[in-house]
Amino acid sequence: MVTLRTVSPDDAPALTHVYNGASIRYTTGKPLTLDQAHVKIRTALARAAETPRAQWSWGIVPKDELIGLISLRRRTLSMGTISYILREDSWGHGYATQAVNQVVSVAFATAGFNRLEAMHHPDNPASGRVLIKVGFTHIGTSDRHTDSGPTAPYQVYALQKP
Ligand SMILES: CC(C)(COP(=O)(O)OP(=O)(O)OC[C@H]1O[C@@H](n2cnc3c(N)ncnc32)[C@H](O)[C@@H]1OP(=O)(O)O)[C@@H](O)C(=O)NCCC(=O)NCCS
Repeated sequence: MVTLRTVSPDDAPALTHVYNGASIRYTTGKPLTLDQAHVKIRTALARAAETPRAQWSWGIVPKDELIGLISLRRRTLSMGTISYILREDSWGHGYATQAVNQVVSVAFATAGFNRLEAMHHPDNPASGRVLIKVGFTHIGTSDRHTDSGPTAPYQVYALQKP
């Protein structure tokens, strides 16, 4: 079972390994530098201190090493979005599915959401598979600019609070 935990500045080097290789092919498009990792962590910690809270971020830790990041963002009073990224060499063990399941529980049980949405690049079907396994439904597409320029029909999923 993966553990989700708060990130700290010590996680910056691990985060540069997460945002690298195939993991960024259909997300940010660029590897994260150590400085950028520190900024990302500082931002996550600052947003965690806001009231009302609009963002939750957790490190994904299967054993003792941080191998991914998952975030929940408030978009409206009752709707949140989930995003996640895992280090390439940790794929295929069900870690993303476990992490999304845990965040869905937090979102509905303690963060007060009644609807969650998530989206992924059309060439990244593993991400959609994760959402389907957790119970999300594919609801359509949204044309979005990719970091390389052209638009792509991102696949959009939703989950209602049971
Ligand atoms: C998407 C991602 C999170 C998956 O992580 P993971 O830990 O390997 O996910 P899981 O092991 O929980 O599940 C992956 C599922 O996708 C399936 N899968 C893998 N490659 C696939 C492909 N090319 N086509 C279809 N399904 C695929 C796996 O078989 C598995 O499903 P199964 O359990 O039914 O066999 C990981 O690839 C990643 O970090 N990608 C880059 C970041 C990203 O795209 N994030 C999503 C945007 S929010």
